[in-house]
Amino acid sequence: MSNPSLLILPGDGIGPEVMDQVVRVIDWFGAKRDMPFDVSTDLVGGAAYDAHGTPLHDDTMAKALQVDAVLLGAVGGPKYDDLDFSVKPERGLLRLRKEMDLFSNLRPAQCFDALADFSSLKKDIVAGLDIMIVRELTSGVYFGEPRGIFEEGNERVGINTQRYTEGEIERAARSAFDLAMKRSKKLCSMEKANVMESGILWREVVTRVGQDYPEVELSHMYADNGAMQLVRAPKQFDVIVTDNLFGDILSDCAAMLTGSLGMLPSASLGAPMENGRARAMYEPVHGSAPDIAGQGKANPIACMLSFAMALRYSFDHGDEATRLENAIEKVLADGARTADLMGPEGGTALSTTEMGDVILAALD
Ligand code: NAI
Ligand code: MG
Repeated sequence: MSNPSLLILPGDGIGPEVMDQVVRVIDWFGAKRDMPFDVSTDLVGGAAYDAHGTPLHDDTMAKALQVDAVLLGAVGGPKYDDLDFSVKPERGLLRLRKEMDLFSNLRPAQCFDALADFSSLKKDIVAGLDIMIVRELTSGVYFGEPRGIFEEGNERVGINTQRYTEGEIERAARSAFDLAMKRSKKLCSMEKANVMESGILWREVVTRVGQDYPEVELSHMYADNGAMQLVRAPKQFDVIVTDNLFGDILSDCAAMLTGSLGMLPSASLGAPMENGRARAMYEPVHGSAPDIAGQGKANPIACMLSFAMALRYSFDHGDEATRLENAIEKVLADGARTADLMGPEGGTALSTTEMGDVILAALD
């Protein structure tokens, strides 16, 4: 059997800087754990625009559809702000998500004990927190028709439509149940079935899909209450599944419970390919951070944790993912900090490469 394949798209700004450290980690797993990957690297975003006049070349798109998983850094930057909308760096990212049909977006909110002081909440509320929000990514109010700004009498009206088919709800729900099976078998579905018909259908379909997963304890919550509960007592949750709009907001809210943007990974999953693996793209939540790009200051952990998610969700190596996460947890506990993780007490910040060094040493 051939090795699992990875397409690496470092992108712009700090993307290539953090990805360099992930490549070291990938090489480590190949050498020390006998887990070789077939890795290819290509351009996306502004870097692709500079080379080809498009934020994602057709050849790159074709490659993304062939590999087992895509690992992306970040796209964008001030240099590209005035480009036409059709060739903006973000369009490269959107095209990948759309053509790979990545309908399920996994956003963990995980609190490393050593960083619990970074949370805006009390330490005991977030210490040990480990939840996962599954956001439906390709439908809902961001895509529903009709949409637009229309004349109506003597004023204008702005319209967006929340629209979900049963099939769209079902596949998002299934991916959340599958995930719950790999975790603590607890799933909370969030919508507003009290005021939205799409929410009524959402609740109905999720409940029906749940019959295929009798081991998973399913609960439902109105999304506004969900927001309150996330801030009040986040540890009551394990996996949360919700629609595109609520998921956008709730996942950002949950993520910030745990501190720095430089720590947050994500995964986007699509339908199964011929080999049974779901199409997948893994990327840090942060952007290209032009304010620190090129200075060796970026925190590579979000991108490394994204690779850990790839190990767990694309390659069924949950044990190896945990190995990487434990190494990261250990160096943080030992006090390793990039500049974004420096508290008011100060200290010496590690560079991006130095953080890579200590994590590789901890892996050894
Ligand atoms: P950003 O996430 O790039 O930066 C926000 C702040 O967090 C900055 O102060 C930055 O220095 C800091 N930061 C982010 N990642 C960090 C890391 N790994 N280590 C240390 N500090 C880190 O968001 P911003 O500034 O709104 O956007 C900058 C550019 O990135 C824009 O062109 C935007 O369109 C693009 N962007 C791209 C995303 C993607 O590729 N998925 C997501 C968000 C923004
Ligand atoms: Mg958002």
